[in-house]
Amino acid sequence: MTSDAVVPRQYEFSGRQVDVFFDADFSLLKEKLSREKTVFITDENVFAAHQDKFIGWQLIIIKAGEFFKNQQAVDTIIEQLIALHADRQSFIVGVGGGVVTDITGFVASIYMRGVKFAFVPTTVLAMVDASIGGKNGIDVGVYKNLVGVINQPDFLWYDYSFLRTLPFQEWVNGFAEIIKHACIKDAPLFEYLEHHTVNDFQVSAEEIGELIRRNVAIKLDIVVRDERETGERKLLNFGHTIGHAIENTSRLPHGHAISIGMVAACRISEAIAGFDAAATTRVTRLLQQYELPVTFLADSTQTWEILLHDKKRRGNALSFVVLNTIGKAAIQSIPLDQLHQIFNSLQ
Ligand SMILES: NC(=O)c1ccc[n+]([C@@H]2O[C@H](COP(=O)([O-])OP(=O)(O)OC[C@H]3O[C@@H](n4cnc5c(N)ncnc54)[C@H](O)[C@@H]3O)[C@@H](O)[C@H]2O)c1
Ligand SMILES: [Zn+2]
Repeated sequence: MTSDAVVPRQYEFSGRQVDVFFDADFSLLKEKLSREKTVFITDENVFAAHQDKFIGWQLIIIKAGEFFKNQQAVDTIIEQLIALHADRQSFIVGVGGGVVTDITGFVASIYMRGVKFAFVPTTVLAMVDASIGGKNGIDVGVYKNLVGVINQPDFLWYDYSFLRTLPFQEWVNGFAEIIKHACIKDAPLFEYLEHHTVNDFQVSAEEIGELIRRNVAIKLDIVVRDERETGERKLLNFGHTIGHAIENTSRLPHGHAISIGMVAACRISEAIAGFDAAATTRVTRLLQQYELPVTFLADSTQTWEILLHDKKRRGNALSFVVLNTIGKAAIQSIPLDQLHQIFNSLQ
């Protein structure tokens, strides 16, 4: 591929344009970025699997995994940026899964009151979700993404060849967000997914490329219309209220926890939004087809305690994403008492 074959799709946010480069070869970044001014941030697993790609670039390697998405990792990165003499003209590129892109975006937003940054997502989950939309943050103890900013990267660079080294469980993890997109916005995508399995996408660069493009478009279209999450963007939290609480108590991977959260949200939708029980069965089956867990595993008392601290709580009610039908979601405020009752009936 020649560099001029890479033409970005452009998305306008308030005050910043985000360029999205699909089918872009990592090596072509050298034509876009200065070696002197660019600092890459990746994690130890991505580095181990793709060392060659980083030769000749300034690089910070962080520990892998959600456990390290915290203030300590931020401090370590900042110390290394200082050691590398990074200044306000520096450009930071996060190469990795959602943990790397979340931390990178956060550090870039606060280092010297903000430097420019970009992402090269390397997991399915980061490609279709975490790297998109400008939410960058870290966890504080059990509270997920409690501290963070909304700030858009300059560009997103999609090189699907990274996925060749992605472990199967991480593929599965990413499909939770893809199924979420189908549930809230795209009934034909839901049906299409029903006719496939994870393996179909693992073996076909064309199919996974198409699927990623379609999901990037779903998320970007929403976040461009509602960057600050005052309305439509909230729909992307489908399955996440209970999902996040489960993620914190069980240490399940994000997508796996969200999968259980989506089943719970379907049941809640049955109780308060007229969602068909047969549709809950379809969602549950699809999640299982993509090898995701659908039953509640976490400690329910602890999970409920964490739910009470959810960012979407307003006094005695929680704003909750429900499905009316597959492909159509809405926000409904649920009194905590009622939610607790439904929640208890889920186990
Ligand atoms: N900012 C947002 O809008 C947003 C949205 C969704 C999720 N997230 C966040 O994203 C995170 C989850 O992202 P994730 O699932 O990508 O997790 P992750 O970054 O932990 O990556 C999963 C695992 O895969 C490894 N890995 C990554 N790319 C690889 C590759 N190409 N080959 C081999 N191994 C590879 C990583 O080292 C890690 O062990 C969570 O912290 C979640 O809160 C953020
Ligand atoms: Zn998610």
